Order: sequence, then C-alpha cells, then structure tokens
Amino acid sequence: MMSASGSMFSFTAFAILFLCSSCVAYEVTFDNRAIKINGERKLIISGSIHYPRSTPEYDFSGHLDLVRFIETIQREGLYAILRIGPYVCAEWNYGGFPVWLHNLPNIEMRTNNTVYQNEMRIFTQKIVGMMKHENFFASQGGPIILAQIENEYGDVENAYGENGWKYVEWCSDLSPKSDSTPKIWTENWSGWFKTWGSRDPHRTAEDLAFAVARFYQLGGAAQNYYMYHGGTNFGKTAGGPYITTSYDYDAPLDEYGNLNQPKWGHLKALHEILMSLEKTLTYGSAGIDPFGNIKEVEERLVNAQTSIMVKKPNVGEDPDRLEWVWRPEHALHVDRKGSLKGSTLVANELLDQKRVTNGSSDYLWLLTSFEHDERDAVWGKAKKVTLHVNTDGHVMHAFLNGKHIGSQWNTDGDFNYFILEKSIKLKHGTNRLSLLSVTVGLPNYGAFYDKKRVGVHGPVKLIAKTNNGDVERNISSNQWVYKTGLHGEELGLHLVESHHNHNWKTENRPENRKMIWYKTTFTAPLGTDPVVVDLLGLGKGVAWVNGFDIGRYWPKQLAPEEGCEVECDYRRTYSPSSCQSNCGKPSQRWYHIPRSLLKADDNVLVLFEEFGGTPDLVSIQTVTVGTVCADAYEGQTLELSCQGGNVFSRIKFASFGLPEGSCGSFNKGTCHAENTLPVVKDACLGKERCSLKIAEETFGVLRCKADAYRLAVEAVC
Ligand SMILES: *[C@@H]1O[C@H](CO)[C@@H](O)[C@H](O)[C@H]1NC(C)=O
Ligand SMILES: *[C@@H]1O[C@H](CO)[C@@H](O)[C@H](O)[C@H]1NC(C)=O
Ligand SMILES: *[C@@H]1O[C@H](CO)[C@@H](O)[C@H](O)[C@H]1NC(C)=O
Ligand SMILES: *[C@@H]1O[C@H](CO)[C@@H](O)[C@H](O)[C@H]1NC(C)=O
Repeated sequence: MMSASGSMFSFTAFAILFLCSSCVAYEVTFDNRAIKINGERKLIISGSIHYPRSTPEYDFSGHLDLVRFIETIQREGLYAILRIGPYVCAEWNYGGFPVWLHNLPNIEMRTNNTVYQNEMRIFTQKIVGMMKHENFFASQGGPIILAQIENEYGDVENAYGENGWKYVEWCSDLSPKSDSTPKIWTENWSGWFKTWGSRDPHRTAEDLAFAVARFYQLGGAAQNYYMYHGGTNFGKTAGGPYITTSYDYDAPLDEYGNLNQPKWGHLKALHEILMSLEKTLTYGSAGIDPFGNIKEVEERLVNAQTSIMVKKPNVGEDPDRLEWVWRPEHALHVDRKGSLKGSTLVANELLDQKRVTNGSSDYLWLLTSFEHDERDAVWGKAKKVTLHVNTDGHVMHAFLNGKHIGSQWNTDGDFNYFILEKSIKLKHGTNRLSLLSVTVGLPNYGAFYDKKRVGVHGPVKLIAKTNNGDVERNISSNQWVYKTGLHGEELGLHLVESHHNHNWKTENRPENRKMIWYKTTFTAPLGTDPVVVDLLGLGKGVAWVNGFDIGRYWPKQLAPEEGCEVECDYRRTYSPSSCQSNCGKPSQRWYHIPRSLLKADDNVLVLFEEFGGTPDLVSIQTVTVGTVCADAYEGQTLELSCQGGNVFSRIKFASFGLPEGSCGSFNKGTCHAENTLPVVKDACLGKERCSLKIAEETFGVLRCKADAYRLAVEAVC
C-alpha cells in the first residue's frame, strides 16, 4: 500500500453549482455530446486542486485527509473528479509513488508486473473503499461523477512494449475515443511549474479563456484547468528534479489562495457566459457557430480587476530584531576501525540513493577511508592529487579528514550526472573521505523514470599528476559506510520540543559558512493575509516552522538574466516559455507559511543551511493586493477590491471616456468625464471593496464619437 504521505491525489472541483443537500443517488452517463446527469446534458467546467499542496490543515492526521476534502467539495455544492493514480506525475516527488516501492524485490512499475500490480490494487481498493464507505460516489448521492486511475500513460506506453498493453488492459477496460464519447480535455494548463534556476512562467488570461471558449464552441463537453490552485510543495514533496517549493502555476488562485487577477475574474466571466449557453452548447450542433463569437462577447463582458500583489512587512516586528541562534552540522567520518555508530548500511559498492534512504531524507552520507603513504614512489611524489566523484546528483558536498573540500550541484538540464573534481591534500596514513549526497526532488515523469539513478554513481577515484602522466586509484569498491539523514535531523533540531535544545549558540554566529542550523522565533502577523518568509541572503537548505517542514529553499539559485524581454502576446500557441518574468532574480525568494501552522507568539523558524549565507535579511511578511487596476466597458458594474481588511488609500487614476494606456501608465484620452476622480474617490476611499456602475449617469454625460465608453481606474490599497 502506498503511504498516505507518499501518494498524491488529484482532484477536480467543478465551477458549476449543484446542491446536493438531499444527497439522493443520481445517474452519470454520457453520449457523444456531453456528460449527462440524470439524463440531462451538462457542460462541465473543472479545475484541479491537489489538496496536500494547500494548507496543511489538510495534512496528516489532517494533511492527507481525503475524506475531509471530498466532504468540503460536497458541502460547497460541487462535483468531483477523482484522479486516483497511484502514478500521478504532477511534479510530485517520484510521480506520487512512495520511494520505498522502489525497494520491493522484483518490482517493475507501471507495467505488467505482479509485485507492482499487487501494490496498486491494494492502494486503489483502499481509496475506492474509503469513498464508498462515505457514500461519495454519484450512485450513492455523493459528489464524485468521474474517476481516473493511472495518468499520462499514452506518452510512455510504447516503451513498455507488450507489457504496457497488458497493463493498460488490467487497469481498466479502456476503449479508444470514438464518435460515441464526448470530448473531454483533462489538463488545460493555466500556467506552468517552476524549477530552481528558471524564470516565472505565465499564461495570459486572454489566451487561456480563448482556448477554453473555442473548445466548447467546437463541441467540447468537459474541460479541466490544470491547475486552478497550485499551492505549495511542502516538505520533500516537490519532484523534478529541481521543482521549486512554490507550485503557484500562475493559476487563477495563487500559491497562497489569493485571487490571481485578472485571470480569476476573466475566467469567472467566461464561465458565466458558458453556463448561460449550456443548453445551446450541449444540444446545438457542434462546429457550427450560431452563437456569435464567444471571444468577442466575452471581451465586452469582462470587468475583472488587475491586482498587483505586494509583500508587506510584519507590522509590529522589526525585521532586524529576529534573534538567531545557531549550531554547526558536523561532517561525519568513519572511525579508526572504518565504521560509524548508528550507520544503516555498509557495502563495497556505490548504491542508488533511493535504495539506502528509502525516501526518508534528502541527505545521505557516504563515508570511506583509504591509506596514503608519503614514501610511495608514485603517490608520495605526485605534484597534485585530485578527487574525482561522478554522481547522478543532485547536490554534492565533499569533506576530507573533516574539512570541507568542495560543493557542487547539477547544472545539466537532463540531470544525467555531474562530476565533482577537487584538488586535495592527503595526509600520511589513514585519510577519511565523507561525501554528503543531496537529492532535490526525485524524477516524476517519463518511461522508467522510477529507475533513474540518484546519488553517487561512481567512479570515485583519486588522480595523481606525476611526471609520467596521470595515475588513478579507483576507490569505488572501497568499503562505504552509509548514513541517511543529517545529524541535526536525528537530534530533532527542527522540532519545537527537542532534547538537544540547550546546545544552540547565540555568540559568534559565522558568516557564510556551510552546514549551519539557524533558529529564531517570531510573532504571527496580524490580519488574515497569507504569510511568507523572505529568505533572501540564504543559500540552499530546508526550513521548518513550528516543526513542520515548509520545504526546500534555494534563493541563491537565480533565474537566467535573459528571456523576459518577449512580449506576452496571447495571439499564438501557448508554450510555457512564451511569457516569462523574474529574470536574474532568485527563482524563489519567498516561502509560504500557512497561517494554520501559526500561533500568536513564539513561532519557531528553523533553517538548515547547506551552502552558506546569512539569515540577517530574513523577514516574515504578508502577501496582499497592493495596487488595483481596471479597464472595463460601459454597461458593466466594476467591482474593485483590496483584501485581508486593507482599504483603498489612494486613487491614482480614474477616467471615464476613452482612456488610454495600461495599468501603471493610464492617461486621459481625448474624451474624459471631469467628474470621474471625485466619484471614484467617494465610492472607494477607506473601503475594502467598492462597486461602480460604468455609465454616464454615474460620471457625467459625454459627447464624443465612440461605440462605447470605458472606465479605467488605478487605485492603491
Ligand atoms: C522502507 O520503508 C518502508 C515503509 O516505511 C518499510 O516497510 C521498509 O521496510 C523500508 N525498507 C528498508 C530497506 O528500510
Ligand atoms: C504479464 O505478466 C504475467 C505474470 O508475470 C506473465 O505470465 C505474462 O506473460 C506477462 N505478459 C506479457 C505480455 O508479457
Ligand atoms: C487548452 O485547451 C484548449 C481546449 O480547451 C486547447 O485548444 C488548448 O490547446 C489547450 N491548451 C493547453 C496548453 O492545454
Ligand atoms: C572503478 O571501480 C568500479 C567498481 O569496482 C568499476 O565498476 C568501475 O568500472 C571502475 N572505474 C574505472 C574508471 O576504473
């Protein structure tokens, strides 16, 4: 069975309302045009949420509480599509499989293999059983109308040959798409995920809305946004390698749950139009266009504001006042007998990291020792000795005789391997080599992705430069002692209650040193705006708040300088690289601290820093709407809002008529109602939200030549 923490469920909650308070059984069928509920064709608009990526209220003993999540869907009057997996891809660590699955003898994943199929059966039956027990299926009056097992297998099926076919047959009696099935689009990308070292990808609201409108116009029956809310990859859940902790996805609801405007509002307007056409779209004849151009209709109707989000300091807490204590994480090494107390494994070979850690930590120590004789004719006389470590990644720190000799990480986009090569100074007698191998998210995609090695692959060798050329000593099959995890993890330094809390130091905090634990306490920001910690100044590591692992951080990893110049023109086929921002900046600087983790005071933040840096700049902040812009047509009612109890403090621009420019650079055009500013000020200043009917009766009569007037506003929260 998959452990709940290692597996992933993908859920889809519909935007259409269906009140199921009576909860009587209903029938879900389909024909070639649509999915039918009790015989009636329905237009299905759906959006993905991976609830473990949302607030950890859904986390363990809470967090992976699937039942509670489906209950919430039901209570909100939505339908659910249950995507069970167990393979989900989803940029989730190891594609959603728990890593220990790899270590079952004779297992072959996602193919005709009895060991794997047995695990998959146990898992699937467990999930289905749980759902049945709660009466969650449509036939029981529950919200689940569709379900899926496996995911994206078509992409890899051929690589598994005959066994792939056999597996698909076993999973479900799949029949290929035909004229009698409706058109369903399971993943329409609202944006894209981000990796350490990449820019922020965007998909414009116009592009997304247009693609969706056209799909239904051409007879589409159901489509699902991937993602509607992306959330956060807490703990070790990010896959990849190198998927960031943020899984914002430029989704309509941002990483923290804020409205991503104008995308959210734009799609809301589209959905309202689509639902008003539900009968026509599902009973009319596909391909013909009797409804006019939906895109044009929609543009006139869209009145979504653009929200420019800002980070605000934690009022009441001076960031300079965060007081830090620290402790070093000492490099481990073998003792004189070549062993280590508490080590998990000794082997005369280099093992795949998954095999050793079993998924329990990103960190694995590999320790060995070897002799060096200064009198040796070759090694004693060498001009230079180099350590050469070939590793499948993803990050490597090397120590010789307790001293740090080098750190390196994978910069090859394919994550095949990298080589750490460092000049070293050997001492006479026994030398002790310690390698700390670090994974940064296990692969989640591609045929046989599960078999891709991670960790030190070898060879590990010493190279002596002599007058007669290079001489090599291969130490790959030395005796290696393996130890999973950091010493600090073992001591529980990241936990609030630890028996070792007394050894933290307040004095002589080192600057920019590798392998340091830092700890501080902070007050929760007032209000309801989402909370983040700004980790600028730090290198790479892991952060915990009140003992909860909020994920890996790596602010030192910058996005490329180039590639953001491209104009975000939506009139072309979407690709994740077609519209990007954040060039030259940390690919992720802010890290989400769900409010559900916080108490009023004395919240504990612990960092384990691998690369060195300073916590001096770290601060707790909130994310809220900073500036609001809107530009909408006459006839609309414009709703403007700040969030989290913040109110409009200033109206920077307001013009009813024919305003020009865009958010941040609006100007009055040739036609402008003088009264606009005072009217907007009167309606909005000091309020969290305000509403303006865009009409001459609100702002004054205009006598210009125009099809329709517009209102443009820029306001500060
Ligand atoms: C790996 O973890 C699983 C699940 O916790 C456990 O059943 C298994 O015994 C572990 N295997 C090893 C080799 O430690
Ligand atoms: C599928 O696996 C079963 C059980 O191991 C085996 O008997 C059968 O030959 C396999 N099928 C194919 C197509 O290889
Ligand atoms: C989104 O879905 C539409 C159909 O709804 C399709 O035309 C478009 O290619 C999809 N785009 C992506 C990126 O999924
Ligand atoms: C080093 O030793 C390992 C293990 O014995 C072996 O597999 C590998 O081929 C050797 N590499 C080189 C470069 O000699």
